[in-house]
Amino acid sequence: MEFASMATVLRDALANHYAVGHVNINNLEFLQVAVEVAEEDHSPAILGVSEGVIQYMGLDYTVAMARAAKNQARVPVVLHLDHGSSFAWVARVVRAGFSSVMIDASRYPLDENIALTRQVVELCHPLGIDVEGELGRIGGTDDDLLVDARVAALARPDEAERFVRDTGVDALAAAIGSAHGHYHGRPQLDFVRLAEIHRVTSTPLVLHGGSGILDEDIARAISLGVAKVNINTENQEVFTSTVRQVLLGHDALYDPRKYLGPAKEAMKGAVRMKFRLFGAVNPASWGPAAAAG
Ligand code: 13P
Repeated sequence: MEFASMATVLRDALANHYAVGHVNINNLEFLQVAVEVAEEDHSPAILGVSEGVIQYMGLDYTVAMARAAKNQARVPVVLHLDHGSSFAWVARVVRAGFSSVMIDASRYPLDENIALTRQVVELCHPLGIDVEGELGRIGGTDDDLLVDARVAALARPDEAERFVRDTGVDALAAAIGSAHGHYHGRPQLDFVRLAEIHRVTSTPLVLHGGSGILDEDIARAISLGVAKVNINTENQEVFTSTVRQVLLGHDALYDPRKYLGPAKEAMKGAVRMKFRLFGAVNPASWGPAAAAG
């Protein structure tokens, strides 16, 4: 099986009222956790890779590691560029073997956002590669991407309808009040806006900044058309705090497996809980019943 189609995976999620977890990959262990938990739960895995992480891991290593995980997996594995900043970046990862890309042109005025996103769709769709676009501006800190709260903006339903129609995207990251990184206080998601965007687009919607959002709010967002939830910060926190705990007071410990192993296990627990919250466990299309049939 080659890398899976994000559009297929998300359409199934939307039709069956669950969401697929997009796990941001930071290193080999993150990638293994995402695919291992997906395998256990018979859920699709979406491996989200930012440009910063590609610079850190190397593009060829990233694709090779994802391919190794995918070759062993019996569930769909999507290799997805997160927050692609330019046509050149998209073209680069497409050549390297990614099956899905996000073009984030949300920093531009609407017409330019549509034009660049459309250009990416025209490159990708003939190659069978799926495209996520962003509308409004999601605030917060994501890797090298910094969007100050003062310039963050919510997506407008009328613009969402036009954006989806004019670009042909397979998934829409519509800004509804979530933010990347840490929240100050309870995140305020605009559910009325989300419901309206879902009504006028009927495209799978993506909730970015999934860390720190209350479980009940995530469940409500899924019931209103969110089919993919992106998680990074919470996984980084659980991974790193475990490394810190293991190393604290153990100055003689030098084998990386002794702290990366426990960190990986702890992160697995966190990812498992999220997949269950998203309802992405044994979905009929990918679970044992589907394999048997
Ligand atoms: P968090 O780091 O807030 O979980 O957001 C991840 C994300 O949305 C990646 O695109």
